[in-house]
Amino acid sequence: MSEPIPFFRHDLGAPEVEAFRRALEQPILTTGETVALFERRFAAALGRGHAVAVTSCTGALHLSLIALGIGPGDEVITTPLTFVATSTAIMEAGATPVFVDVEADTGNLDVAQVEAAITVRTKAILPVHLYGHMVDMRALRAIADRHGLRLIEDAAHCVEGRRDGARPGELGDTACFSFYATKSITCGEGGAIVTDDEGLATKLRRLRIHGMTKAAADREREGYQHWDMNELGWKYNMDNLQAAILLPQLDRIDANWSKRTAIANEYTRRLRGVPGLAVPVTVPGVRHARHLFPVWIQGGRRDAVIAALQTRGISLMVNYRAIHLLTYFRRTFGLAPGAFPNAERIGDATVSLPLYPSLGRDQVARVSDALIAAVGSNAESRVHAMAAPAL
Ligand SMILES: Cc1ncc(COP(=O)(O)O)c(C=O)c1O
Repeated sequence: MSEPIPFFRHDLGAPEVEAFRRALEQPILTTGETVALFERRFAAALGRGHAVAVTSCTGALHLSLIALGIGPGDEVITTPLTFVATSTAIMEAGATPVFVDVEADTGNLDVAQVEAAITVRTKAILPVHLYGHMVDMRALRAIADRHGLRLIEDAAHCVEGRRDGARPGELGDTACFSFYATKSITCGEGGAIVTDDEGLATKLRRLRIHGMTKAAADREREGYQHWDMNELGWKYNMDNLQAAILLPQLDRIDANWSKRTAIANEYTRRLRGVPGLAVPVTVPGVRHARHLFPVWIQGGRRDAVIAALQTRGISLMVNYRAIHLLTYFRRTFGLAPGAFPNAERIGDATVSLPLYPSLGRDQVARVSDALIAAVGSNAESRVHAMAAPAL
């Protein structure tokens, strides 16, 4: 059998090893100068005023909600087609996620349905830039302003994305990023919040470390001084070792994005017109971050296709099955199939193909050929037409 093709392979190497080694020589391993440097450089890379580095995107979302005063009794409008963390963060803040269905052709929150879901309890909208395709943030900002709502972006997939000239964090109150093991830049586990609001950034920095008024870096700089705690915070501070691994990757963001984009274009070329397959549309005005390359397999064949490719050594992932149908959400919110038809249809059809800078053209060809063979092996799948346009 040919070499297995993993779903993801990170590109960390000599620059990260050297940065990690240097971080180990510093007196502070926890949140210190290396984190501060990463925050300045990450904020600059996003064109934002401030970045606050934390331990995960889940923590970033949770802290954003709390810092913006969202809690028990409040509702937050969000998408059911995402990783569970988008909603669990809302629940960890004590608020209630209110799902709105997604667009049939992009999988993103359907902005046209958002206003109908607003109630007197609604305090915020929390969209996800799914797969790296930004939501229509200009439309969402207008809705949020009309109703006095906060806007928090789940930008876990979208470091490099843009839409109509705006980047993540430009129109939202905050945008939250993930540096989880398979993300475009990674330190295994990590996250960040970007914002242009200096007061909010200061508050987020306090809340990420128990609400303490002084932290380890202050002690290192100023010597020990008594600290106070004025508000309840959490333990979400990124450490210098994580920041050290992330810093060299900032220099490769554009080059790696170009490589992933070329791979996505190659998949698109090879898969165009294959019956039984569709891919999400990229809306005009969008610069796609190309974090994931999903294909939508019709005719209930998705799981069989995953199994077929796995027997050929090709690993795939599902991002995501609609979360309102997971046991916990069904039980907690009494949701049933049919509640959000587009999210369910996409969630039952989607599979993500391998996509990372070191993926070679021959591997893209192997994945594409195996996929075409697996989809074509069932005549049924040729008969049904997907709602979304074909490639
Ligand atoms: C859309 C989305 N939101 C949130 C998260 C949570 O990120 P983290 O694992 O850094 O908490 C992820 C991670 O996979 C994600 O894909």
